[in-house]
Amino acid sequence: MPDRTRTVVMTGATSGIGAYALAHLMARAGTRAIIGARPSSTRPALDGVQVLPLDLSSLSAVREFAAAVLARLDGEPIDMLVLNAGAQFLNTSARSAEGYELAFAVNHLAHYLLARLLLPGVAQGGRIVLTTSDTHDPRIFRSAPARLDVRGWAQAPGSAASAYAASKLGNLLTAEAIAALPQTAERQITTIAYNPGLTAGTGLSRAFPRPLRLAMSALRPVFRLLSRLRPQLYMNTPEHAGEILAQLADGTLTPPAGHVYASLVRGQLAYPDPSTLAQDPAAREELWRESADLTGLPSR
Ligand SMILES: NC(=O)c1ccc[n+]([C@@H]2O[C@H](COP(=O)([O-])OP(=O)(O)OC[C@H]3O[C@@H](n4cnc5c(N)ncnc54)[C@H](OP(=O)(O)O)[C@@H]3O)[C@@H](O)[C@H]2O)c1
Repeated sequence: MPDRTRTVVMTGATSGIGAYALAHLMARAGTRAIIGARPSSTRPALDGVQVLPLDLSSLSAVREFAAAVLARLDGEPIDMLVLNAGAQFLNTSARSAEGYELAFAVNHLAHYLLARLLLPGVAQGGRIVLTTSDTHDPRIFRSAPARLDVRGWAQAPGSAASAYAASKLGNLLTAEAIAALPQTAERQITTIAYNPGLTAGTGLSRAFPRPLRLAMSALRPVFRLLSRLRPQLYMNTPEHAGEILAQLADGTLTPPAGHVYASLVRGQLAYPDPSTLAQDPAAREELWRESADLTGLPSR
């Protein structure tokens, strides 16, 4: 990381894992952050953090945010681009401003667009982290996609669980695609897709009934026991998942060469292979092309 003031641009910094990650990043002197947040979001009370309006459910709002960030930076590069925001819904009936299924639009399409609009502003040697989930993987989560269907996902996937899993596959394939771009290699940009793993106590499950959310947190020891058989059931804390996100963003932790996927497995950072689909270069390219079309960008 540079000697000059380092700059973080971040989504999803107002709650849960991202709020802890931002606090870790800002604890180092000489760091400034520009975060995107909805009007209703809790503002972080941290020196050096500027908040710009961002609602990821609207692609035009994403474009306005990206333009405002670049104007605010005034030519200064982005050292860390952390695309962490995410949402989960009870069904797939809600739509984004452009009419796309909301989980896919907020989690994937908005971040795909933002990553592409801000990529030219990322520093030489900079880092990009997208928060994904192991729910993208059919070996781990029954509702995860086994084949690519970007257009279908944008319209009306079956269940809320499959919509969320598809959106998180979108984050992972986007990270893989960015890492494969010649310009990111030339500029020595590191791109990471981070799975924090099951993490109770964040706002992600806010759409679910309160008794269910309370039961999940209370059952942490039971989940930890079950995780001996199924590691994905290990329940992390937002503090720990946020600290690891910050360390991946600032380069304290970095994946081995050739790895994009970084995953908390039973609380420890590991670099397992993602799903078969997430490793498929043809899927990566198709996702990139289709997402470009859906967000109104050229494919290159
Ligand atoms: N918790 C888990 O078990 C788990 C597991 C795997 C992956 N993840 C991923 O981890 C990331 C962080 O989730 P979390 O668990 O920390 O949940 P969280 O506490 O709900 O945080 C989500 C963040 O995303 C922001 N966000 C949601 N919708 C938005 C929108 N339309 N426009 C702008 N910002 C929006 C939220 O802003 P507000 O403050 O305005 O709500 C919040 O800052 C997500 O990408 C999630 O998919 C979580």
